[in-house]
Amino acid sequence: MARILITSALPYINGIKHLGNLVGSQLPADLYARYMRGRGHEVMFICATDEHGTPAELAAAKAGKPVADYCAEMHDTQGELARGFRLSFDHYGRSSSPQNHALTQHLAARLGQAGLIEEVTEKQVYSITDARFLPDRYIEGTCPNCGYDRARGDQCENCTKQLDPTDLVNPRSAISGATDLEVRETKHLFLRQSALRDRLDQWIDSQQGWPVLTTSIAKKWLHDGNGLQDRGITRDLDWGVPAQFDGAPWQGMDGKVFYVWFDAPIEYIAATAEWAEAQGLDEAAWRRWWREDEGADDVRYVQFMGKDNVPFHTLSFPATLMGSGEPWKMVDYIKSFNYLNYDGGQFSTSLGRGVFMDQALSILPADYWRWWLLSHAPESSDAEFTWENFQASVNKDLADVLGNLASRVTKFCRSKFGEVVPEGGAYGPREDQLIADLTTRLRAYEAHMEAMEIRKSASELRALWVLGNEYLQDAAPWSTFKTDPEAAAAQIRLALNLIRVYAIVSRPFIPDAAASLMQAMGSDDWSWPEDLGAALATLPAGHAFTVPDVLFAKITDEQRADWETRFAGTR
Ligand code: 2FM
Ligand code: ZN
Repeated sequence: MARILITSALPYINGIKHLGNLVGSQLPADLYARYMRGRGHEVMFICATDEHGTPAELAAAKAGKPVADYCAEMHDTQGELARGFRLSFDHYGRSSSPQNHALTQHLAARLGQAGLIEEVTEKQVYSITDARFLPDRYIEGTCPNCGYDRARGDQCENCTKQLDPTDLVNPRSAISGATDLEVRETKHLFLRQSALRDRLDQWIDSQQGWPVLTTSIAKKWLHDGNGLQDRGITRDLDWGVPAQFDGAPWQGMDGKVFYVWFDAPIEYIAATAEWAEAQGLDEAAWRRWWREDEGADDVRYVQFMGKDNVPFHTLSFPATLMGSGEPWKMVDYIKSFNYLNYDGGQFSTSLGRGVFMDQALSILPADYWRWWLLSHAPESSDAEFTWENFQASVNKDLADVLGNLASRVTKFCRSKFGEVVPEGGAYGPREDQLIADLTTRLRAYEAHMEAMEIRKSASELRALWVLGNEYLQDAAPWSTFKTDPEAAAAQIRLALNLIRVYAIVSRPFIPDAAASLMQAMGSDDWSWPEDLGAALATLPAGHAFTVPDVLFAKITDEQRADWETRFAGTR
């Protein structure tokens, strides 16, 4: 049994996430966690809300709420939706937790002691009316590039140009609209990432078999242009982890907090500490996952994220951990994703374009979405959601192939043999062939799941379902029954056992349907079918089962047309 630590990129607190966000991190991480648990490994699956930075403060201001209240409410909302999608986190933490404050300050102090933090005096925009500096999104104005009059201090949404607050024409405060702004000097702490460049380079080179998407992004940032830049890790904000440290060499950081991207990944560790506390366990319980000197040397650590997060996870966060000089567990594998587009354009949170997690669950159960999203995960390139494709794939794969098999077999058995597994004779050559074919497919499925090849895994799973259908079509117990009821009984005995096997192997993708199938088969034996011959003989003759409710309803053309229109505009 292995120990596997899995983290999903932490969703920003500033609103409900769309399906593109979901498929780029939390959902595939859940798939992997469920699979590894299904194989009997010890899994720690961690996620949390990313609660600091200007997005949080501004979203709270827009909602007219104190930022702490806003974050607490939105954390609950996002947690509820995560449960709705059956995301099986061992802990869903908050980057604003006391554990994260303490650990962030601890790591900063260690970096300071190692000479990896320096104080830099910078020029920043100050608002006299608001009596504060206006970092990042706190300042708006006219884009010097395209003339858009609502460009933000960090970027123009219209032409996507990256900006500095001081670039804006006619700048104004995003809080008060005040224009009495001036440029003032302020001191900030910078993480000297450049000093760690060679160590990071070597560390990345020593990783085996990382996806090309991950390493190419990391290498680009390491080697392009000026190479790895030192990075400001403090901001003039109220909400965040105060830039204070015990035993560190600086003073005078009063009123400043750490930059959101400094504390957010540290929350992966802190959330595991939150988990231990919530479970009533001691410190050793979480440290054995994270400290190489306390048991984490045999942990395999896998991270899931969208491609925009890769630089922070291949360079900045490793720099924090390495630079601390402490034996923290570093990531072993980074699974990164391209983008999912929505019906000819992009999903967009700021524009409210696409389907958001709450909306998705209001029209269909989680499994429908999980299946489509995972079987179309944007792995090797960007992918696109269209209602037509969604309808086709749900109706074909889930309703016609898996759902239909379960319903036909159980109903036929009930009408001819009653609601118990029938006796019948021994399995013959056709059944042996089926077992051999299923075995080949199942081993391929396992290999793809181990390798986190999500689309390939989905297609092997579909192929497993198809084999069962082909067998039934070929064996045709409904016809066999007329001439040889014994043989038909044996075929149905096998098919009922196959339904239980499908429940087990499909569970990582469609956990609710899997639970219904297992329950209908009157079993609670989720052990992985290492030996398919044995697995297909698990439910003995005489074992009671029930006919499951309709597993997957087909999506009608009317529904599709309705949803297409309903979600065409903006939220
Ligand atoms: O891009 C995002 O949504 C960020 N909130 C991801 C943070 S991942 C981690 F480092 F916390
Ligand atoms: Zn612009």
